[in-house]
Amino acid sequence: MKFHSTTSQPAIDDHCDLRLTRPPTALARSIAPDRGMLNAYLDRICASAQYSNFGPIHEEFARSVCNTLTADHALLFTNATLALTTVMRAARIGGEVITTPFSFAASAHAISWADAKPVFVDIDERTLTLDPRAVEAAITERTQAILAVHVYGTICDVKALQAVAKKHGLFLIFDAAHAWDVRLDGVPVHRFGDATIYSLHASKLMHSGEGGVLVCNDTTIASLARRLQNFGIESDGSINVPGSNGKLSELHAALGLSVLPKVDAEKAKRRLLRETYVERLREFDWLQPIAPTERATESLQYFALQVLSEQTEPANNRRDRLCAALAEVNVQSRKYFYPLCSDFPHYQSTTTDSKRDLAVAQRAAQQALCLPFHSGVETHAIDQIVASARRLN
Ligand SMILES: Cc1ncc(COP(=O)(O)O)c(C=O)c1O
Repeated sequence: MKFHSTTSQPAIDDHCDLRLTRPPTALARSIAPDRGMLNAYLDRICASAQYSNFGPIHEEFARSVCNTLTADHALLFTNATLALTTVMRAARIGGEVITTPFSFAASAHAISWADAKPVFVDIDERTLTLDPRAVEAAITERTQAILAVHVYGTICDVKALQAVAKKHGLFLIFDAAHAWDVRLDGVPVHRFGDATIYSLHASKLMHSGEGGVLVCNDTTIASLARRLQNFGIESDGSINVPGSNGKLSELHAALGLSVLPKVDAEKAKRRLLRETYVERLREFDWLQPIAPTERATESLQYFALQVLSEQTEPANNRRDRLCAALAEVNVQSRKYFYPLCSDFPHYQSTTTDSKRDLAVAQRAAQQALCLPFHSGVETHAIDQIVASARRLN
């Protein structure tokens, strides 16, 4: 049996043997909690027998989240999708919500679950986030809100979107599921717009297994959202609105508290990994890493590439071949975000957006590829990625 090459340029025929000898390189790996902290929280939970309903560990986690994000208030949810739906309900958003098709399904689905209709418009070529000019062009008398996504942690043109929202009296929500603790010119991203959600799902840099955070800049809407995440129960016990159950449990809060102190160390390793990827992939002019936002701190959630095809081949050709080649050598990659949300059969049949020009988003979806991005990615996996790309050159 051959052993893997540790040089930066493995022999091309090594990859078949590597497939047999190496465990797969996962796309994502959750930060492991500090076990001492987690055990101490679990002891407290079991001793108190309070497992949910805004218990002391939930409250402690909410304070830590506020401190980390520099937020005055934050509501913790079971997940970010429900946080999105709930804030739309709290802001009484119906009608149409303008959003990006280039995102994870949750963004568009949350709009549907809030009983509104997503209207997909095109994205900006450079940032791959919602294009403020396309947003303005799509506004009708039915439009009530804009849901913009800081996709891959790349920050939207927040000021232009704020200006459009203000001019037309629209509620502006930012989906910051990929942008934990990102700051633009030193300002936390949730200061922009009316509300921002963060995801604490296990796939995210900062996580609590499942979980979400809502930061709402309007205190009336925030207080209604708080009631809505608890069945609509008022402080006097009465129930006047149909709420849901979106409370984060004590167990999830404990996990979050035990992961939070380890985020900075993980970030430092991901920063190095990002630099290594950029350096090692520089030889391929057809592989273009998505650049972090200027003047913003890095999200370090994904390492996303645009894989450019030859002019003579279909736009997704080389991306799909690279993805398949990586699977062959046991390296996971993901076509995030493909297909576009606007191409899901449900939205094809419920919206008329197929007539809208989504050319930039269509191309982005055909070129997008995310590579493994976490502190467990080893040099041999990077060697394999480079070798696979060379085979496609
Ligand atoms: C852009 C975006 N928004 C929302 C969500 C939903 O987050 P959650 O899994 O916490 O509901 C995700 C999840 O990956 C996401 O990528």
